[in-house]
Amino acid sequence: MGVLAGRVAVITGGTSGIGARTAAVFVAAGASVVIGGRRKDAGEAAVAELGDRARFTPADVRVESDVEALMATAVDEFGRLDVLVNNAGQGVSTPLPLPEADLAAFLDTLAVHAGGMFLGIKHAARIMIPRGSGSIINMSSIGAHRAGWSDISYSTAKAGVLQLTRSAAVELGPRGIRVNSISPGPIPTGIFAKNAGVDADRADRTAPLLEPLFVQAMENHQSIGRAGRAEDVAEVALWLAADASSFVTGQDIGVDGGISAGRPLTVAATERRLLAEAFSSLPT
Ligand SMILES: NC(=O)c1ccc[n+]([C@@H]2O[C@H](COP(=O)([O-])OP(=O)(O)OC[C@H]3O[C@@H](n4cnc5c(N)ncnc54)[C@H](OP(=O)(O)O)[C@@H]3O)[C@@H](O)[C@H]2O)c1
Repeated sequence: MGVLAGRVAVITGGTSGIGARTAAVFVAAGASVVIGGRRKDAGEAAVAELGDRARFTPADVRVESDVEALMATAVDEFGRLDVLVNNAGQGVSTPLPLPEADLAAFLDTLAVHAGGMFLGIKHAARIMIPRGSGSIINMSSIGAHRAGWSDISYSTAKAGVLQLTRSAAVELGPRGIRVNSISPGPIPTGIFAKNAGVDADRADRTAPLLEPLFVQAMENHQSIGRAGRAEDVAEVALWLAADASSFVTGQDIGVDGGISAGRPLTVAATERRLLAEAFSSLPT
């Protein structure tokens, strides 16, 4: 019996990347899942692969009626809602320098990440409160913790997700609902190519090809010397969804290969060597 046997989960942004992988891991753990997303073809293809315990409902997380309908699908199709993974998100195509930055684009990023997750929590809570149980998992980012890893609007939105998580956790804890977040580091999904203007389906299909580039690019940042994978994030989401984490709420878990812990020692060693060379060449 899987740890989510008999449970029902909604996963926003389940048509690709981390959301799609989380849906597969949850189904393998015994859950039924409803995935959301804007791309109908991608959503239908994803549930066809997931099997009988999966449904797709088109939903743009910026639209409240879409989010409400997504949660309702869980109840209509599977009779309950136990877990929400608030995962839908987008990157930012060409970050502009602050003096040229556009307010509408800034607010749209907030609308998807902070607004969409707020709506998800609101409508999941309406269903979970009467049952007195539930687990909500919000997808934040390394960008919430460290500046310079993403565009200013994305970093701001993801930092907002951390406080949204804590605020919802303290309000919903007494009603039996836990709320936590995950902060992935760079994971080679389609999100990067989409930001660069590549067609979304092609971006998703070709994402694994980026792994070697990510290993190289992260060499001076991550202590773990491999690319992060959607699976790494999905497994943490599974733990947060399951009863094993029943005393954990209001927390953020980094899944970043050590980026937020500090610099790899190899970087410090190089600097120490340069300093040692500089010291040895100082005039006596
Ligand atoms: N990959 C990383 O390095 C990384 C790092 C930190 C955090 N994250 C976060 O992880 C989450 C998943 O990203 P990913 O890397 O898996 O990228 P992805 O493969 O591009 O997945 C993004 C998902 O969000 C959906 N989506 C985007 N805008 C939406 C909207 N307005 N309404 C509903 N769904 C929407 C997309 O579906 P449709 O296109 O079908 O709408 C897709 O299913 C995001 O919140 C992202 O910010 C990713």
